[in-house]
Amino acid sequence: MYKWIMSGLIVVVCLFGVGLLLNNLPAKERPAEPSASSAIPDRPVDAAAAEPIYKSNCLSCHGDQLQGGVGPELTKVGSTMSKESIYKQIANGGGGMPKFKGRLSDDEIVTITTWLAAKK
Ligand code: HEC
Repeated sequence: MYKWIMSGLIVVVCLFGVGLLLNNLPAKERPAEPSASSAIPDRPVDAAAAEPIYKSNCLSCHGDQLQGGVGPELTKVGSTMSKESIYKQIANGGGGMPKFKGRLSDDEIVTITTWLAAKK
């Protein structure tokens, strides 16, 4: 009788464990996906909105004609970098460039990313 109760308990514990595993694995993988690729909404290029942002935040390093300076030339950045990497470079900075997340709104970063991604 005791043996039956024990093996019953073990089976229940195993099922519980498997259930937890099945529930947890996808939950852990989920958050990484949307932030990686779908962070940037598809929008039409809005140069009238992007240029003033560029002039006051980026021109000093990337030049008034995107020709480069302290930072690299950006005239054809859309053909060498994906929209995602342009967005990340602006938001997170790195390699001598300051991060703009916090300084610019997400909306402004998307505006300028879309504008730069079209420079091919
Ligand atoms: C203080 C100078 C500075 C400012 C201001 C600056 N950048 Fe940069 N930027 C850099 C440097 C330096 C790099 C090179 C980083 C590297 O090589 O990792 C760079 C790289 C980039 C790249 C990647 C280019 C490539 O070919 O690798 C993009 C895109 C970019 N900047 C966009 C912007 C935008 C948009 C702004 C304004 C919101 C801006 N930057 C403001 C210095 C700056």
